[in-house]
Amino acid sequence: MFINKERLRRRIDAINEASRDPQGGYTRLAFSEQDREARRMVEELMREAGLEVEHDAAGNIIGSYKCGDLAGYVAAGSHIDTVRNGGPFDGLLGSIAAIEALQCAREQRVPLKHPLRAIVFADEEGARFGSGLIGSKSIAGIPLPQPLDSYVDRDGVHLVDALKNFGIAPEKVLNAAAPKDTYSAFLELHIEQSAVLEQRQKQIGIVSGIKGVYWIRGSFTGEANHAGGTPMNMRHDALAAASKLVTEIYRIGCELGNEFVATVGVLKITPGGINTIPGHVEYTVDVRDLDMARRSEGIRQILKAAEEAAAFYHVSHEHSCIKDEASCNMDSSVMKILEEVCRDNKTNYMILPSGPFHDTLPMASLCKTGMIFVPSIGGISHSPRENTNWDDIYQGTEILYRALIRLAQ
Ligand code: CO
Repeated sequence: MFINKERLRRRIDAINEASRDPQGGYTRLAFSEQDREARRMVEELMREAGLEVEHDAAGNIIGSYKCGDLAGYVAAGSHIDTVRNGGPFDGLLGSIAAIEALQCAREQRVPLKHPLRAIVFADEEGARFGSGLIGSKSIAGIPLPQPLDSYVDRDGVHLVDALKNFGIAPEKVLNAAAPKDTYSAFLELHIEQSAVLEQRQKQIGIVSGIKGVYWIRGSFTGEANHAGGTPMNMRHDALAAASKLVTEIYRIGCELGNEFVATVGVLKITPGGINTIPGHVEYTVDVRDLDMARRSEGIRQILKAAEEAAAFYHVSHEHSCIKDEASCNMDSSVMKILEEVCRDNKTNYMILPSGPFHDTLPMASLCKTGMIFVPSIGGISHSPRENTNWDDIYQGTEILYRALIRLAQ
């Protein structure tokens, strides 16, 4: 192995230790004091690694190793912000592994044609302000879906004020947009956040693409009435219709196959009394797939099922789409390099899609991209119980390093 395991582990542990949460796990919400301290530590590590450190207009931390005659950085990175009570590796692994990979290339004086970059993206999780991907979208020149001044955290702090507090001018965030050809390739190492690798006993996942998210918000409207006085055949029960839809969505998800997933995450029942027939139910559906045609088919079946449920229970149905993001395929030449590197290194791997989004998604609009997954124990993430074996962490970092070198040579 070329990477320095002990150094990698020490750095990850130190940053986690500084943001240990008394309620469990680690909390580094974006633009919080814990985030500030972690960012300070990351910059120090970048300098220790011999990188030139800079901040861009969106608060991304960029460490460059200037080498080679060709333009176009071969970059790697991830985020260091977490959800509340997050685990040790979500984001932090890919950030510190990128610094390790660059330091390793520098120390071993590997001859390279392209310069290298480690990027630590600002606010990936969106756990505090609800947006997420702020840093990576800004580098890609993609504005957030809402105006910046509309985002507020649960304590009433505005995103624009949190940015200013970190020395970031909100109106200049998109100045971080990277000119065309700045990057020639981008790689991200990340925990899987699912149990597929563990079940298949693979140490590495090579990501084929990131599933496109589609969110539906809908409602059934019937009539609230007395649970005792209204005969069954005279009801307009909005919850009965919603329940039928929930089980239909489950069936559609199972029938369309493994990569298609659909989830009802919210049901709001009104008025919500023990002796009252529900007159109104609001629901949400999260639909994802890598295959956009199959996703459309799933959405079509779900909406048809909703209309049928409404007709069956004599209620009305309304719906709207509140998010529609296309799926994104990883670059096939990068995937091929990752496969070769795994084979050379005798690491067992498999190819799989990513359900969650990542900083790689916006980066894919700038350059060719690839993602490496390492197993999440029990498939758990966004929890203090999130964990990955150190052996898998080292293998993932080694694969990241070797692939970066191959891309830069
Ligand atoms: Co993450």
